Amino acid sequence: MSESKSTNITWHAGQVSRQDREKLLGQRGCTIWLTGLSGSGKSTIAVAAEKALAQKGRLTYILDGDNIRHGLNANLGFSPEDRTENIRRIGEVSKLFTDSGIIVFTSFISPYRADRDAVRKIMGAGDFIEAWVQASVDTCESRDVKGLYKKARAGEIKDFTGISAPYEEPKNPEVVLDTNGQSVDQSVAALVTYLQKHGYIG
Ligand code: ADX
Repeated sequence: MSESKSTNITWHAGQVSRQDREKLLGQRGCTIWLTGLSGSGKSTIAVAAEKALAQKGRLTYILDGDNIRHGLNANLGFSPEDRTENIRRIGEVSKLFTDSGIIVFTSFISPYRADRDAVRKIMGAGDFIEAWVQASVDTCESRDVKGLYKKARAGEIKDFTGISAPYEEPKNPEVVLDTNGQSVDQSVAALVTYLQKHGYIG
């Protein structure tokens, strides 16, 4: 699906550069790619981090798996191929948002290493920050916020990540947020510190 069918197309550059936009915003655009099991805390951390950054006057945007599957990716399911296409599209959307100068949080399980690496590859150096939201299946299952683990165990949901479909752990993520024992505030603080330390925000 990633094969290009478009021909005779030309790239048009604007007269306002990414650098100009970042200067206007006083920040550097990037994508914090939260990856982890369902129920690991990706969306919760994204929402809390966005609030913390807004309070510091920073412009952010969240691309959330469940939300994006209501619209842009409503035609995709959970087969390996559909998950790959889901991540490919969001990688392209994240690249555009990052170019706009916005700090993007994505919260997708993104279980396949190759799919995450493909996104890293299409983005500029330093634009893709892989943040592994680490929580064991046991932890996520005990939370079972959406009741999906129960359904997956009962065989009502097929190909459920962590139960009947794989999750490939990141090998060299920029950030690890261990939510088995760490609070939401601690995870947010770790992300804000990372952004400050690496010059994305002042
Ligand atoms: S991904 O694997 O393609 O990255 P994504 O993050 O978009 O997944 O969507 C995951 C969300 O879809 C989960 O949080 C859960 O609410 C829901 N979901 C429904 N079916 C499944 C399934 N089979 N495996 C994982 N999540 C599922």
